[in-house]
Amino acid sequence: MSRKQLALLGGRPLGVPTPAPRWPLIDKNSVRQVVDLLESGHTVALGRTSDVIRKAEDSLSAYHGDRHVLTVNSGHAALMCALMGLEIGDGDEVITTPCTWGASTSCILAVGAVPVFADVDRVSGLLDPKKIAEAITPRTKAVLVVHLYGQPADMPAINRVAKKHGLKVIEDGSQAHGARIGGKVVGTFSDAAGFSSMGGKLLATSEAGFLVTPHADVFWKAAMMCQHYGRSAEPGFPDDLKPYVDSLVYTFRLSPLIAALFPAQVRRLDAQVKVRGENAAIFRQALSACRFMKVPQDRKGVEAGYYMLTTNFLSEKAKVSRDTFLAAVKAEGVQAFVYIPEGIQHWRRLRWQGNKGPAAHWQGQLRRAKIDYGARPLPNCDYKVQHAIELSFTRWHKPAKGAMQRLAEVFLKVEDQIDALREYEAQQAEQADTTSRTLKEAQRAASSYRRGKAGRS
Ligand SMILES: Cc1ncc(COP(=O)(O)O)c(C=O)c1O
Repeated sequence: MSRKQLALLGGRPLGVPTPAPRWPLIDKNSVRQVVDLLESGHTVALGRTSDVIRKAEDSLSAYHGDRHVLTVNSGHAALMCALMGLEIGDGDEVITTPCTWGASTSCILAVGAVPVFADVDRVSGLLDPKKIAEAITPRTKAVLVVHLYGQPADMPAINRVAKKHGLKVIEDGSQAHGARIGGKVVGTFSDAAGFSSMGGKLLATSEAGFLVTPHADVFWKAAMMCQHYGRSAEPGFPDDLKPYVDSLVYTFRLSPLIAALFPAQVRRLDAQVKVRGENAAIFRQALSACRFMKVPQDRKGVEAGYYMLTTNFLSEKAKVSRDTFLAAVKAEGVQAFVYIPEGIQHWRRLRWQGNKGPAAHWQGQLRRAKIDYGARPLPNCDYKVQHAIELSFTRWHKPAKGAMQRLAEVFLKVEDQIDALREYEAQQAEQADTTSRTLKEAQRAASSYRRGKAGRS
């Protein structure tokens, strides 16, 4: 068996050393604190009157330029808090990216607003600032930006457009903790930012999220919507909001058992982001020899967080489909994948006309807005989702030069054997064609037999 022959075609897999098996890394001290909380019966905390919540929020706030921080129980809740704190709701339009995890869109739907998709950059998959203006209508209230795969979106350009049109800006930093633009961390470029800190993220706990905002009123309005009595017992609660305090809240409060994990995770974040960045640089350098792989370049002054590394496979140039190439890469032992199967504008549950699936409450608000997601072509998003191949980088937080080079070698090996892969794909297509022809012939024979039998009886 040759190492040159593709594993998909019967050769020996090149293989890549597996990254750190455990994620998230929770230190012993944090574990002890959680056990202490359990043993002392402190399983619920109602805001900053709890030491554990206060320490978690203070550590997150210090990391995000001393902005207001509200801890909650998920990233989705944090994004809803951002929207609710900015009083965005019923029928308001929010311009956003169709190329993301669905929670960046479902948070907009959940507050009664209408997501309007603008196109993205076809290499990075990030919202294209130039496309935002085209999507603005008199009902547009905000732009919700996602720092996808750990790459910071172009916040200076997006903020310029938003300022010109009087729009609020919201960041979804769930995939990019610690990523920076000009030395400033993401989450500090907007009116409000929502982050997920579930166990698979770069700043990982178990299930958690947090809101970051420079505006005290946004913080308190968000708290009023989702925390026990709006945390009205805390210092600084505004007098003008006091008459409205009640328990009409979404229960998004964070468990102290999870909050206890934050300070140590925040302390380690920068060092881990740095090592992932170094590993990614080695991989990108080695991959630059590939003719058929395109990797987004970090803009000047930008440090990505490397939650994932996204690439485009240039299938038209290679004359092999992305899926066949990906199957060959996987057969070599690399856990590459396609993260976004289709742009959100095409997803079935956004259809309010002729919906045959389960009803979703947002279909009513989309019907009232008469939004037609087919009307605005988003060709770059379509291109990106058809060409992208992703690699998870979360676990590559220890220096891994050899593994990074081997990872790139796998892509080079598959590219080197592209002729064999083309032949394989042609054979597969021919086989599928023959199978479908044989099936049709068998169906025809069976139905003529049934007709003959019916005629005889
Ligand atoms: C971009 C983005 N936004 C929002 C979320 C939602 O976070 P959570 O699962 O904590 O609600 C995620 C989670 O994967 C995400 O990747």
